[in-house]
Amino acid sequence: MSGSEEVKAVCKFLLGVFMLVICFCLSFQNHKPKCYITDLFVPALNTYTNISSATRANTFIFFDLKLENVMPFNGLRYNNVNLTFSYNYGTGERSALFIPIARHTVPGFYQGMRKTAHKRDVTATRGVPWGDAFAAVSNGSMAVFRVDLATTVRSKQYFWYAKKQRLTVGGIVDVGSTGLKKNNVAIRLR
Ligand SMILES: *[C@@H]1O[C@H](CO)[C@@H](O)[C@H](O)[C@H]1NC(C)=O
Ligand SMILES: *[C@@H]1O[C@H](CO)[C@@H](O)[C@H](O)[C@H]1NC(C)=O
Ligand SMILES: *[C@@H]1O[C@H](CO)[C@@H](O)[C@H](O)[C@H]1NC(C)=O
Repeated sequence: MSGSEEVKAVCKFLLGVFMLVICFCLSFQNHKPKCYITDLFVPALNTYTNISSATRANTFIFFDLKLENVMPFNGLRYNNVNLTFSYNYGTGERSALFIPIARHTVPGFYQGMRKTAHKRDVTATRGVPWGDAFAAVSNGSMAVFRVDLATTVRSKQYFWYAKKQRLTVGGIVDVGSTGLKKNNVAIRLR
C-alpha cells in the first residue's frame, strides 16, 4: 500500500464515522409536525346553489387537515388531535371576536418518518349566524373562520419515545361565495 492510498483509506474511514455520528445525532430529534388546512368547504355558503334557510340551519364543514412529519429519522406518535372551528362575529374588520362553532377529534395515530397525512372529514356546526355569513359572501366579502389545533406528540427514537410535546397552533380561513376556502394555497396553522 502506498502512502497516498493509506491517507485515502483513513479519510474514507473518518468520513464514514462522521456520517454515522451525524445520523445518530439526527435520530434524537423531537420536532413538532407542520400543520395545514389544505381544503375547507362550507356548503351552506355556496351562493351558486339554491339552499333554503331551513337547510342552512343544519350545516357541516368539510375539511382537509394535512400533518407533516419533518423529521428524517424519527416516527411520530400523535395523541388525539383536537380541532376547534370558530366563526368571526366581527363586522368588516377582522376583530378578535371568534366564537367556537364546532369541535372535532381526530383519533391519535402513528406517522412514519418524513410522512405526510391527510385527515379529511366533516364536522357539524352550531350557532353560525348563517344569514349574516351568507350575506357577506353574497356581496363579495368573506366569511371568516378560524381553525385551532391542540394535541401532544412524541417522536420515536429507536425503541422508546421522547418526552411529550404540546402542540397548539391555529390559523384564519377565509371563505368566499363558492363556500370554498379562498385561494388555492394551504393555510399553515402556526
Ligand atoms: C332558485 O330558486 C328560485 C326560486 O325558487 C328559482 O326561481 C331559480 O330558478 C332557482 N335557481 C336555480 C339555479 O335553481
Ligand atoms: C357585505 O355584507 C356584510 C354583512 O352583511 C357587511 O358587513 C359588509 O359591509 C358588506 N360589504 C359590502 C362591500 O357591501
Ligand atoms: C383534547 O380534548 C380532550 C377532551 O376534551 C381533552 O381531555 C384533552 O386534554 C385535549 N387535548 C389537548 C392537547 O388539549
